[in-house]
Amino acid sequence: MKTYLLIAIAFCNSWTACGQKESGSSEEGKTKVGGNCEGCEAIYESPVPFEKLHWTDTLPDFNDPGPKLEISGIVYKKDGKTPAAGVVIYIYHTDQKGVYPVKGGEKGWDKRHGYIRGWAKTNDKGQYRFYTLVPASYPNSNNPKHIHPVIKESDKNEYWIDEFLFADDPLLPEDERNKTRFRGGNGILTTVNDNGLLKAKRNIILGENIPGYPAK
Ligand SMILES: [Fe+2]
Repeated sequence: MKTYLLIAIAFCNSWTACGQKESGSSEEGKTKVGGNCEGCEAIYESPVPFEKLHWTDTLPDFNDPGPKLEISGIVYKKDGKTPAAGVVIYIYHTDQKGVYPVKGGEKGWDKRHGYIRGWAKTNDKGQYRFYTLVPASYPNSNNPKHIHPVIKESDKNEYWIDEFLFADDPLLPEDERNKTRFRGGNGILTTVNDNGLLKAKRNIILGENIPGYPAK
């Protein structure tokens, strides 16, 4: 199948604003948290029903040429101590050319997010894990390479947390490195090469710096 490449910057003026933070979406009767988020509803396009999601997922690009990446961690409740089970995490990112690739015929948010996306649901220990490739930054830009995550807790609407970024990325801005307030915890990854697989950990704290998130 012919692969068409969707130029990311056609839709994304900045790496932190790609398809997020604009229009609202919410579920009736649920607590609205996280502010507005255009594109967060893409989490509902999971090819697997939420109840059947596994805690680990391999994205479609994993066996393509490129730096192989394993991201894993534990999702904690707002207290930062209690593992949170059953939390759905949706991620998407660019390919090795820095674009969100499409194949043609997309009908949903995959038109903008591309096909390199994945879904996982934390297990009883709060664990999640993704296998994918380290994305490339947008073409001809100073945007750091990044992976967009969206969170869905069963009793709340979907909301975005800070992107996964890479500590060894020369394009990662200094102010981002020095940031102290992260949505959902620090997303800057430090990778360790384990026989060709770059492994990185990120724990996520639900509600951390998320507007409207209940105190308890
Ligand atoms: Fe992006």
